[in-house]
Amino acid sequence: MRVLGLMSGTSCDGLSMALVEAGRGRPRVLEHRSVSWPAPFRRRLLALPGATAAEICEANVAIGEAFGKAARTLAKKADVIGSHGQTVWHVPGKASLQIGEPSVIAALTGKPVVADFRPADIAAGGQGAPLVPFADRLFFANKNIDIAVLNIGGIANVTWLGRDGRVAAFDTGPGNCLLDAAARRFLKKPYDRDGATAKRGKVDFRRLEEWLAHPWFETPPPKSTGRELFGEDWIPKRGKPADVLATLTRLTAITLASQTLACGRPAEILVGGGGWRNRFLIEGLETLFGVPLRPTDDYGVPWDAREAAAFALLAWAFVRRVPANIATGGRPAVLGRLTIPTPSPRRT
Ligand SMILES: Nc1ncnc2c1ncn2[C@@H]1O[C@H](COP(=O)(O)OP(=O)(O)O)[C@@H](O)[C@H]1O
Ligand SMILES: [Mg+2]
Repeated sequence: MRVLGLMSGTSCDGLSMALVEAGRGRPRVLEHRSVSWPAPFRRRLLALPGATAAEICEANVAIGEAFGKAARTLAKKADVIGSHGQTVWHVPGKASLQIGEPSVIAALTGKPVVADFRPADIAAGGQGAPLVPFADRLFFANKNIDIAVLNIGGIANVTWLGRDGRVAAFDTGPGNCLLDAAARRFLKKPYDRDGATAKRGKVDFRRLEEWLAHPWFETPPPKSTGRELFGEDWIPKRGKPADVLATLTRLTAITLASQTLACGRPAEILVGGGGWRNRFLIEGLETLFGVPLRPTDDYGVPWDAREAAAFALLAWAFVRRVPANIATGGRPAVLGRLTIPTPSPRRT
């Protein structure tokens, strides 16, 4: 079965798409593509957490249109689409709302769309996240070595794939979200390219310690978070831009590395998500881990398509009626909801 996964994450930078062949054995990413959202659309997505009901209602359709238009070409090659949608608000274990109207995507592409994956997990007592471990296990698990797969999107998360079959996964806190917020405020740019400004800065250790004392970092897994917790209010009003970025980069690296190492010492550390492009952050992580990091590309999953590929596999699991919430703390549940397109009129 060929499934197209669509993902727009907390960074609100654009849509990642991955066409995945799933069936027996390891799945394969056949094609992938990303589109960047135009700046006004990105601002609209970033503002969703504070938007009115009317704005959210209209954004639901606009996001469905944007997803559907961007996905048209790849969708031709897919049997079904898995769409994560855009998160409006996520309260771990209680409620999680993703929008991007599946009916619109189905109408624009002519394909069945599986969406709304998180509510079923929450209904089964789970956190609603992270859902990528189901795909990580299929793509990367190895009987001979322990593997950690890091995803550095807006929020960072880790999937631990033990050679004994144990799977653990949780969010570790900020990925790019605070770095991007600081880049928007101080550099007037969507992000600090390659971490170049952060690299020139000095870490403010007092501030770093204050940040690290946040009780969320000590909360044991399973846990998930979002921009509700790691939002603009973390960004200091004062300070040299380079120093603020350097300190935030250190915060991101330390929280990601220390919580990963609490699972064990992995033989292999793979990275997906836009953070892979932040050289300064990756170098910081390599120092903390003491080993080089590798992109998920080395296992056939392009770093910028890993989450989209995961939502393709979650749609495949839905079609097969396979529970896919393997690491959220929830009882096993089939995740998602199906929208089918109207068939084109038959000639009589
Ligand atoms: N060249 C780069 N240098 C630094 N950061 C980058 C670069 N390219 C992408 N990023 C970061 O990756 C983010 C997008 O990552 P992504 O995996 O799409 O996150 P999400 O899943 O939250 O949308 C951007 O917002 C930016 O912070
Ligand atoms: Mg993105």
